[in-house]
Amino acid sequence: MEKRLFIETVGCQMNMLDSELVVASLRKQGYVLTTKPEEADTLLFNTCSVRAQSENKTYSHLGMLRDLKEKNPEKVIGVMGCMAQNHQHKIFTRAPYVDLIVGPGQLHQIPSMIDKINAGQGKQIEVSLGRKDGTRDQITRSHESFDPLRDPEMRPTPFQAYVRIQIGCDKFCTYCIVPSVRGPEQGRSPEDILRESRHLAEHGTVEITLVGQTVNSYKATDSSGKLWRLADLLAELQEIEGLERIKFVTNYPKDMTRELLEAVRDLSKVSPYLHVPLQSGSDEVLKRMKRGYTVADYREMMARIREMVPGYAVSSDFIVGFCGETEEDFQKTVELVEECRFKNSFIFKYSQREGTRGADLFIDDIPHHVKQQRNNDLLAIQNRISLEDNQKLIGDTVHVLVEGPSKTALKKADEVENPHATQLIGRTHCDRIVVFDGNPRQIGKIMPVVVYDCHAHTLFGEVVTQQCGPELFALG
Ligand code: 5AD
Ligand code: SF4
Repeated sequence: MEKRLFIETVGCQMNMLDSELVVASLRKQGYVLTTKPEEADTLLFNTCSVRAQSENKTYSHLGMLRDLKEKNPEKVIGVMGCMAQNHQHKIFTRAPYVDLIVGPGQLHQIPSMIDKINAGQGKQIEVSLGRKDGTRDQITRSHESFDPLRDPEMRPTPFQAYVRIQIGCDKFCTYCIVPSVRGPEQGRSPEDILRESRHLAEHGTVEITLVGQTVNSYKATDSSGKLWRLADLLAELQEIEGLERIKFVTNYPKDMTRELLEAVRDLSKVSPYLHVPLQSGSDEVLKRMKRGYTVADYREMMARIREMVPGYAVSSDFIVGFCGETEEDFQKTVELVEECRFKNSFIFKYSQREGTRGADLFIDDIPHHVKQQRNNDLLAIQNRISLEDNQKLIGDTVHVLVEGPSKTALKKADEVENPHATQLIGRTHCDRIVVFDGNPRQIGKIMPVVVYDCHAHTLFGEVVTQQCGPELFALG
């Protein structure tokens, strides 16, 4: 009999990919997806532990299922991903109606665990070893990567896919829970990455995004013992027929080498968009964060990018209100944002995470309202910069991979029940969002679009048609 699966995913690209793969493995067992929890036989929550807020949200969503589970005890409720690894049995205590807890290193076990629950074997939990619970080898082995099957329906779009190249992280930034919950850094075999990418391209994928916590630190040996770095992978991926765009996230500033930037510059399919989190513009704060670089190092990296990669766009992450961050420290961050002119920045208020070095060593001493103020101030500055830089693109032709109808078009289509929404949304090679009027047949294609207006995070354009003359087509 057909079984129904509801899945909610929060967090980073890694989680989106994990959800896709878990859904694919459950589809093989006869599951179909539903967006309605009350209709589902199995409900899974793929969770994030990076900030307390995301964990609290998951608990509140779980709380809403209490009644449903009471009335339908046969439904299976599972928590997977980082929070499952972080809180483990505690989840059973806070939400006693949860049946299943699975860390990010055990996702392949989900189908058999659900079977056990359905066979009356009670609650199931599978998690990896903690970072102090064994030898490095034992801990590494307890975090198994999970990349067996792909499911286009779970992707952002059927022609875009994430490809995992690395799991875990060994950087141990003092604020960050990721090394504890995702385990030691492990580079995936280059042969596997290439095989999966070829398979995706053969099935219509035009854009792949390589994902890892610090993708540009990627290192792995192939079966002949040769060492591969990210630049080597990019060179091979460039050759895959059908692939048009290759992106990679997230980068670690210290590993943005000349060799990698040469690959970004020379390989036409590789996006010149680089997400390289700076986190703070103050050396004192960076030191307490144990980021492993100084502001001067980051400036040098920016200079290298500017010198080597034409048409680049860099984006960043910041944490405001980290332990001991003074007004002066914060002003230094503001200066760096002004100087680096990021395409966009993700700004977060520091959230102390139990189990991190930061929680052990420093006091979370910046009041919430100060964190909020700094967050607002930095965001306003970044938005002004994003707007100014977008304005410089007005009149240019950009090449847009069309992702689908825009939100407005979808809303309108709902209202008038017209599925042929014509306002489309897509992204440039530099990851800029572009909205334009088009035809649904353009979805999945790369279209030349002339920019005529913009907001801080959106360009508005018009498709360059043949009527505009062949010379315009040749532009950009
Ligand atoms: N509090 C706030 N933000 C955090 N990040 C990581 N850990 C924390 C934390 N404890 C942010 C960093 C990272 C992004 C993914 O999340 O900026 O780059
Ligand atoms: Fe966390 Fe730092 Fe690793 Fe990024 S590099 S995942 S911030 S520990």
